[in-house]
Amino acid sequence: MPFIPVITIDGPSASGKGAVAQLLAKTLQFHYLDSGLIYRLTALAARRANIDLQDEARLAQLASALDIQFDGEEIRLNQAPVGAEVRGEACGADASTIAVLPAVRVALLARQRAFRQSPGLVAEGRDMGSVVFPEANLKIYLDASAEIRALRRYKQLKEKGMYANLEEILHGLIARDARDCTRSFAPLQKAADTFFLDNSELTVAQTTDVILQLYKEKVSDLAS
Ligand code: DC
Repeated sequence: MPFIPVITIDGPSASGKGAVAQLLAKTLQFHYLDSGLIYRLTALAARRANIDLQDEARLAQLASALDIQFDGEEIRLNQAPVGAEVRGEACGADASTIAVLPAVRVALLARQRAFRQSPGLVAEGRDMGSVVFPEANLKIYLDASAEIRALRRYKQLKEKGMYANLEEILHGLIARDARDCTRSFAPLQKAADTFFLDNSELTVAQTTDVILQLYKEKVSDLAS
C-alpha cells in the first residue's frame, strides 16, 4: 500500500473549514472531501423521494445507493445538476437531522473513505478525525465564536444571492451545533489527538498557513 497522507479538519458549521480545507488541498495538490455535502445530498434526495427524515432504514438504503457525481464545481444527484439549494440553511438542518442516525452514517462510510487517493487527502466535516479517518496524519479542530460564524454564513449566502437573515442564521447554527455535538453516534468532539485552532481572528489564508506549518512539522517527524 503506498503511503497516502490524510489531514482532517473537523468543526462546527461556518467555522471556515470548507474554505480552509479547499485552499489547503489546492496548496498541497491533495484531493478534497467535503463530507457535509454528502450528508446534504442524502437529505436532499430524501426530501425529493418524500422519505421521512426519521425513517432510519429507508434513509440508510437511500444513502448506500446514492447516485452522486462531483465534476469540478458541478454536483450531480441522480444524473441531474443540483442547484444552490444543497448549500442552503434548510438543507443543512435536514442533513444534521439525518446525520444523527447511525445506519445512515455507516452507509456513508465507504463512500467517504474512497476519497483517500494518492497523493493525499484533506477531509472536512464533524467526525473525519474521530471515525472516518482515525489514522489521519494531522487532525485539526477548527472553531470560531457563534457570532463570527453566523456573520460568515450570512455573507456567504448573500454573495450567492440566497436569502439570509443574520438573527435566524445565528439561532439555526446554535441549534445545529447542539444536535451535532450531543448525538450519541459520532458526535462533533475535540479528541485528544486533535490540534485545536480558534480562527475567529484569522483569515482563511492565515488559518491555512498555520495548518500547513503543522503538517510540515508532522511530515518531517514521520521522515526522521
Ligand atoms: O458541514 P455542513 O454544514 O455542510 O454539514 C451539514 C450537516 O451534515 C451538519 O450539520 C452535520 C452533518 N455532518 C455530519 O454529521 N458529519 C460530517 N462529517 C459532516 C456533516
